[in-house]
Amino acid sequence: MKEISITTSFQQFDSLLELPSEIQHLMQEAVKIRKNAYAPYSQFRVGAALLLDNQEIICGSNQENAAYPSGLCAERVAIFYAGAKYPGAKITKMAITAASDTNPTTEPIPPCGACRQSIAEYEIKQDQAIEIFFMGETGVIYQSDSLKNLLPFMFNKKFL
Ligand code: THU
Repeated sequence: MKEISITTSFQQFDSLLELPSEIQHLMQEAVKIRKNAYAPYSQFRVGAALLLDNQEIICGSNQENAAYPSGLCAERVAIFYAGAKYPGAKITKMAITAASDTNPTTEPIPPCGACRQSIAEYEIKQDQAIEIFFMGETGVIYQSDSLKNLLPFMFNKKFL
């Protein structure tokens, strides 16, 4: 038996003002689209903004459904739209913010497992890391230089 250990690392920014201006702008776009979430069941609003290598910004917010699993997370709304609209473009950066209508979110809210797997697909497809910045409504912001830090032991097309 041998132990295998995997380490991941993140950067922390203490406020939006500490972020590079390009990321501040991207996060502001995520905050704007977060307010458009359709979240009557969870009252939990998530916004995601992607910067593409063609300089376009694509945004998404979570869209819920009375048949709960039929809804979709903000991150996947955004990446699937980016894939549909600009199939050849690479996603370089992603900003995510989440806020609850019922209790304040003051810590960084990371993408859920299904979104991580979906983002991984695009990182592998484009053969280029996606920088991911995530926050709550207020508080510090975390940066991951690649989706791999969030999903180190990922399922990958090479297994198929
Ligand atoms: N949600 C997202 O949009 N992204 C995530 O990564 C986690 C959860 C949404 C789904 C649902 O509409 C609400 O937040 C509560 O789970």
